[in-house]
Amino acid sequence: MAFKENFLWGGATAANQIEGAYLEDGKGLSVADIVTGGSHENPRIISPSMDEKYFYPSRKSIDFYHHYKEDIALFAEMGFKAYRFSISWARIYPNGDDEKPNEKGLEFYDNVFKELEKYNIEPVVTISHSDIPLNIAKKYHGWNNKEVINLYVKYAKTLFERYSAYVTYWIPFNEINDIFLAMSSLGQGAFIEENECTFAQQKDDPNARFNALNNMFIASAKAVKIGHEIDSKFKFGTMICHITRYPRTCHPDDVLSVFKNDLFFNNTCSDVMLKGEYPFYTLKEFEIRGIKLALSEEEKQILREGVCDYYTFSYYQSISESTLKFDEQTSGNIMGGIKNPYLKETEWDWPIDPVGLRYTLLKVYDRYKVPVMITENGIGCRDVLNEDGTIHDPYRIEYIKDHIVEMEKAIDDGVDLIGYMAWGCIDLVSVSTGEMKKRYGFIYVDTDDLGNGSFKRYKKDSFAWYKKVIESNGQIR
Ligand code: BG6
Repeated sequence: MAFKENFLWGGATAANQIEGAYLEDGKGLSVADIVTGGSHENPRIISPSMDEKYFYPSRKSIDFYHHYKEDIALFAEMGFKAYRFSISWARIYPNGDDEKPNEKGLEFYDNVFKELEKYNIEPVVTISHSDIPLNIAKKYHGWNNKEVINLYVKYAKTLFERYSAYVTYWIPFNEINDIFLAMSSLGQGAFIEENECTFAQQKDDPNARFNALNNMFIASAKAVKIGHEIDSKFKFGTMICHITRYPRTCHPDDVLSVFKNDLFFNNTCSDVMLKGEYPFYTLKEFEIRGIKLALSEEEKQILREGVCDYYTFSYYQSISESTLKFDEQTSGNIMGGIKNPYLKETEWDWPIDPVGLRYTLLKVYDRYKVPVMITENGIGCRDVLNEDGTIHDPYRIEYIKDHIVEMEKAIDDGVDLIGYMAWGCIDLVSVSTGEMKKRYGFIYVDTDDLGNGSFKRYKKDSFAWYKKVIESNGQIR
């Protein structure tokens, strides 16, 4: 049997995509709250403040805040061993710089942890998932300001002290390299424009962007160090948006350029967080791009002292790249690439590449030799709720099954894989499009792109199938 006996089968979500209750019990506004709904064709808009003419999906999302008991019971029914979720910073510190935490916010997560404990589900907690208090973005200019390091560390310390009885696995930042990949990243709160704009229209200042990331590294390292001191059982994971890259041709220029992009975009963040220092190729690349890092000797020491314990990543697809010109493109998580003639794509044009997952697992384990956890993987599809309450989703079963087969092969190759969290185990709001109809879940939530619906939960066919996967420890196909 390839999968370890204590393999962490489960699912993953993020606060701003499920909780709703956006101002309830003292929660403050977060950057995610000012992003409107959209679609594949019509981009979401970042409005400088909430504007009543728009629909904001995070206001209610799937209303997990009022359904968490029912939802966790459904996870338990599937046999989840682990559940990855994020804590909303603005629920704990509504303005980010408040002197005292919001007790009501802390209580909500107390209840979530207790519910998970009841079913023996291991929490995997993301401290910041594309979601910082709006006040931090506006008043401090987000992660561009070194003061935010202290605010984050204070927030993280509050979580460590309050929830140490429940948590072993922490993730300081979701997809920390998003800020690397995307021209600028709202999630990191570095850039809130004065006028409304789409993600793509945000102004870019690479120097500020990479310095914001540098501040996040320091914040992560400080939190990891303090966390290890507070409780030696704590384990901290990197979380990398792994864009697995292939050369579209075997032209040596293509191979070299993909290799270099992989180093820069996929490996920089995990190198810093697992090896404790910037790799030579990134420092060189910064020099070429004219990036001046504000990194003192003392901060370099902090990076060395706060290294993570395990590697986690999101994997949805691979992309192809070339130095030659190809017309046909595909979309993808954060970024797309040239169409790969050997792969099919989802309705949202994301390539489907299970073998790429095995390749990625081998690549990252070979590089870091620490336990590896897949903290996001899944397929966004349009599901149909039938009159009898059934939802037939063979495409989702096929996608996840094919990826599990490759995970098993990677374990046979020797990779120390410790967990698999299917993304959006319950339907949630899509980040890229703001839609509900792009569904990932084993559990269907009856609400549409404009927040209408009964919010009733239904089991899709994949629900029973995933339950069997977990029962058989990955042996059911
Ligand atoms: C990841 C994010 O990048 O991709 C998730 O961490 C997100 O928050 C997921 O939901 C899937 O992307 P999308 O755009 O389909 O929601």
